[in-house]
Amino acid sequence: MRSSSLLLLSFLVGVCDIQGALGFRICAFNLHHFGDSKSKKSDVMQTLTRIIARCDVCLLQEVRDSKEKALPQLLDSLNRYDTDHVYDAVASERLGRSESYKEQYVFVYRTGAVTVTGEYQYPDDLPGDVDAFSREPFVVRFKAPKTVIKEFVLIPQHTTPTNTTKELDALYDVLQRVRKMWKTENVMLLGDFNADCGYLAKKNRKHVRLITERNLYWLIPDKTDTTVRAATSCAYDRIVVHGESFDRAIVPSSAKPFNFQMEYQLTEEQALEVSDHYPVEVLLKDLPKVTSNGASSLTLTGTQETANQKTTQSKFLSLFVASHLALQMLTQ
Ligand SMILES: *[C@@H]1O[C@H](CO)[C@@H](O)[C@H](O)[C@H]1NC(C)=O
Repeated sequence: MRSSSLLLLSFLVGVCDIQGALGFRICAFNLHHFGDSKSKKSDVMQTLTRIIARCDVCLLQEVRDSKEKALPQLLDSLNRYDTDHVYDAVASERLGRSESYKEQYVFVYRTGAVTVTGEYQYPDDLPGDVDAFSREPFVVRFKAPKTVIKEFVLIPQHTTPTNTTKELDALYDVLQRVRKMWKTENVMLLGDFNADCGYLAKKNRKHVRLITERNLYWLIPDKTDTTVRAATSCAYDRIVVHGESFDRAIVPSSAKPFNFQMEYQLTEEQALEVSDHYPVEVLLKDLPKVTSNGASSLTLTGTQETANQKTTQSKFLSLFVASHLALQMLTQ
């Protein structure tokens, strides 16, 4: 009995592995004071590059690049590191209420995977609620022809910790405006929402329409830890999708933080030099690709398509054998 359970387990692990190799990855990463001084640390830049190169589209937050050199340097590093793809970026203006502290939203993307079809800096002019945000969402529309959803809109937000409840609620108004303006239901909201621990009290959640209204799917659960520090466990960074058809286009259970400290075997101190947040990410389903002989196969993203395909095939084979053996044992 024990060995058959083991086989079943390996079967399940195999299935998860295969899913992990597929899909179009969207990430959101708070880079914690990204600017001149970070760009001068080559090991930090290398880790940032490795993290961002995993994503088809990556939202960067806390970009504080007043000299406007750190971001071009990061793009340069990405394009040198991953020569299978070409990376480009769209960035907001420097946003913030005070002259001395501003941040930009930046979307880094693979030019072969998406095209930018619209940009909208939310003007924060809603009658009765003018200037709701400290960092107004810089909304970007993407066309992604190889995904089942084909086209989607990303609404970024890095909330001000002390105003989290208010700003999260106001994001609902941004969502309504964008749906109307671009006549689309396929909207994702993402970023460091500060939506946990001391910044979003349980009793305040009923006042947040982004939580209470129907048709919104919070993909990163409340118990998730998106913070690097071992001493903290908070689900600050979130991904929320609007609409059932967008939810169906998500690879099930693919939304999670990316623990780069563990993945790249860094000490806590080394990881904190990169950021105090983990990125969060989610996979969109790829369109099935019709090959020349008419058979349908799966489209893969990633750096080594053929290698991936071979591993996938051999995994299917071992899955088949494993499940066959498990079945035999169970029926003995
Ligand atoms: C919180 O929001 C209010 C009203 O929108 C604003 O006046 C205040 O400056 C905000 N606080 C911070 C720290 O941004």
